[in-house]
Amino acid sequence: MSGVSDLQLEDLPGVEPHLISKLKRAGIQSVLDLAVSVPHELAIGDYEGNGIAADVETISELVMRAQKALTDSGILTKEFCTADEVLERRKSLVRFTTGSANLDAFLKGGVETQAITEIAGEFGSGKSQICHTLCVTANLSKGKGKGRGKGLDSIIFIDTENTFRPERIHQIAEARGLDSEEIMKRVFVCKINNSAQLEAIIRNLSKSIEQYRAKLVIVDSIISLHRAEYPGRESLAERQQRLNVMLHKLVRLAEIYNIAIIVTNQVQSQPDNFFGNSNSGADSTRASGGNIMGHACTYRIFLRKAGHDSRIAIMVDSPYHHAYDQVRFTISEKGVENAAAADEGNKKTLESSESGW
Ligand code: GTP
Ligand code: MG
Repeated sequence: MSGVSDLQLEDLPGVEPHLISKLKRAGIQSVLDLAVSVPHELAIGDYEGNGIAADVETISELVMRAQKALTDSGILTKEFCTADEVLERRKSLVRFTTGSANLDAFLKGGVETQAITEIAGEFGSGKSQICHTLCVTANLSKGKGKGRGKGLDSIIFIDTENTFRPERIHQIAEARGLDSEEIMKRVFVCKINNSAQLEAIIRNLSKSIEQYRAKLVIVDSIISLHRAEYPGRESLAERQQRLNVMLHKLVRLAEIYNIAIIVTNQVQSQPDNFFGNSNSGADSTRASGGNIMGHACTYRIFLRKAGHDSRIAIMVDSPYHHAYDQVRFTISEKGVENAAAADEGNKKTLESSESGW
């Protein structure tokens, strides 16, 4: 979608010019930028001190005006919609294939736009492999083989762990008989070194989404930098607040641009604790991280290892799934793909042994 950010701040009725200049100095260039801003964050400024030095109420009012302008022009959904309007909007959903038909079926058609899908799991569980495979498969429309013709969409890959591997994209594309050069030209990778940089990239993501015509944004991983830079309980509140701001922005972007957003999230152990389901409350750091993620993410998928290349995906949270629906898939030179028939044979064992997860 292009032109969403064409609506200029000057087009907003009743906003004084000195506020517009301040907003621009703070990096808010368009009505869209303003609409997806977090008033509190704008008031205190970012890590470079780029606040707009106005009180939170004034900024909230500006943000609401921007949101109203976008609602009036049909870009944002209204606060109240009739059920048939919601249904109409859902018809514009796009689903991207993961490369595994079984995983797609598990996701009711693939990775969905207008939503954030979280993929969590311990190291080596396949989070980054799903992301890499999606770089290859997301542009494949059903039955068409090589993408969607002219005006192809791109993928933005935000790599916070330095684990993006172009060679792997190339290998997956070649193994699937696809044009790897063409595919690699459509993956825009952004390597992130610290949490402030991640926050800045997400704050300005709308421009990149428009510039690259992105349909899928991958953040691999969303939390690791913040977890490293804000350690301990004394930093927990600030870390959670920062995570919240990023996720809030991503939710808005997914809706406004009708794009899919994937975020990965590492867990070490005890997924029950991580997702805030623990009765013991023994690890509240993970539980509260989980709660903020839980509010923002539409789908939460947990991956677990089930052998050398075999993995199980479990739906932890979704408005459309039975809790703990699960599917087995495998990691191969093609990226992620259906589990081999022999693996499927183990399904029974899986179901009986994985009753909590
Ligand atoms: P962390 O980022 O460490 O938290 O883990 P992750 O969940 O992102 O793990 P990742 O997706 O990197 O999965 C790693 C696993 O994928 C390895 O243990 C391998 O089993 C598999 N894998 C990675 N690269 C290849 C490859 O080129 N070929 C094949 N067949 N398997 C691979
Ligand atoms: Mg990874």
